[in-house]
Amino acid sequence: MRRLLQARYVVPAVLAGCVGMVGLLGFSPGAAQAVDGPSTTTPVPQLTSPPLPTPIGQPTAPSASSVLTYRSPSNQTGIFYTDLPAAFIAPGQALFASNCSSCHGQDANGATGVAPNLQRLGAGTVDFWVSTGRMPLANAGVQAIRKPPRFNRLQTLEIAAWVQSLTPGVGTKVPLVGTGSADLEAGNTLFTLNCAACHTITGSGDALMGGAYAPGLHLATTTQIVEAIRSGPGNMPRFGPGNITNTQARDIAAYVQGVIQHPSNPGGFALGGIGPVGEGFVGLLLGVGILMLVCFWIGERT
Ligand code: HEC
Ligand code: HEC
Repeated sequence: MRRLLQARYVVPAVLAGCVGMVGLLGFSPGAAQAVDGPSTTTPVPQLTSPPLPTPIGQPTAPSASSVLTYRSPSNQTGIFYTDLPAAFIAPGQALFASNCSSCHGQDANGATGVAPNLQRLGAGTVDFWVSTGRMPLANAGVQAIRKPPRFNRLQTLEIAAWVQSLTPGVGTKVPLVGTGSADLEAGNTLFTLNCAACHTITGSGDALMGGAYAPGLHLATTTQIVEAIRSGPGNMPRFGPGNITNTQARDIAAYVQGVIQHPSNPGGFALGGIGPVGEGFVGLLLGVGILMLVCFWIGERT
């Protein structure tokens, strides 16, 4: 009798425990991000990375960090679009010739027919694709994915400066984003309206039609977020200043970095941050398990 009683308590308890664990592990942020590829945990260098060694033979060339470590931009919009120094162009051309021209052509005009024309896209677009590791492309034919960048910050900006020099003043520039006075409430509203349909409300990413997918936003820097908004990579729409102003883009970037990348979970567990479905799933199964225990206990007493 005693043994039977124990089995009746233990079985549902083990069941509920197992299901809870599967829910927690299966929907943990790590699993959600694994969609982006195996190496997504590598941190992406920020604009304020430590100074890089000055290349030999160019003692006066400005480094990426000296060019791009502005404090909060002084203008009202919160975004400052930089012009990259002319000294970046020559080394950028050399890097492009050995790493990109085989697909994009010597003049970055897509003459090879393998890869698109990069002229007129601007330094910011090139910076986005190279700094997120999408380029140089490893696997032609599938959507370029985020991976650890091949180039350091200085090299990335040098390549971007060279491509920009082919069509000066045209295309997306590299933005510097000061989020100090950003409005997170506005960022939340704008994100929900413009981005959540594809990237989901928690920014964990989702599949789109035709085999494409919108990646998770947990690794993007504020610069990359604004570059994505302004340049519209792949299947993402391009938002010009008429659709999303600079101030709004800054608020979205601050919201993604502040709330989506560093969520506070008042309940204690994020449950993978996939929203009400995951939470309901775990709540239901744990709750049903406990109710079963109570029922058995009552049944045993009568
Ligand atoms: C193996 C061939 C290959 C190599 C090497 C390569 N690319 Fe690409 N690149 C592509 C293809 C294909 C696309 C289109 C991919 C897509 O839309 O998802 C692309 C897209 C891009 C885009 C976006 C174009 C647009 O219209 O939005 C940029 C910018 C870019 N590449 C820059 C570079 C740079 C800079 C390098 C060198 C560091 C490089 N690529 C190396 C094949 C390549
Ligand atoms: C129609 C669907 C769609 C909408 C709406 C959309 N995106 Fe995207 N987004 C994408 C896709 C698809 C990609 C991947 C592009 C590629 O790699 O080819 C992407 C990529 C990105 C990336 C790069 C992420 C990374 O880590 O590499 C960022 C950042 C981003 N989007 C931000 C935004 C923001 C902010 C908004 C709202 C203003 C937005 N997106 C709206 C589909 C969308």
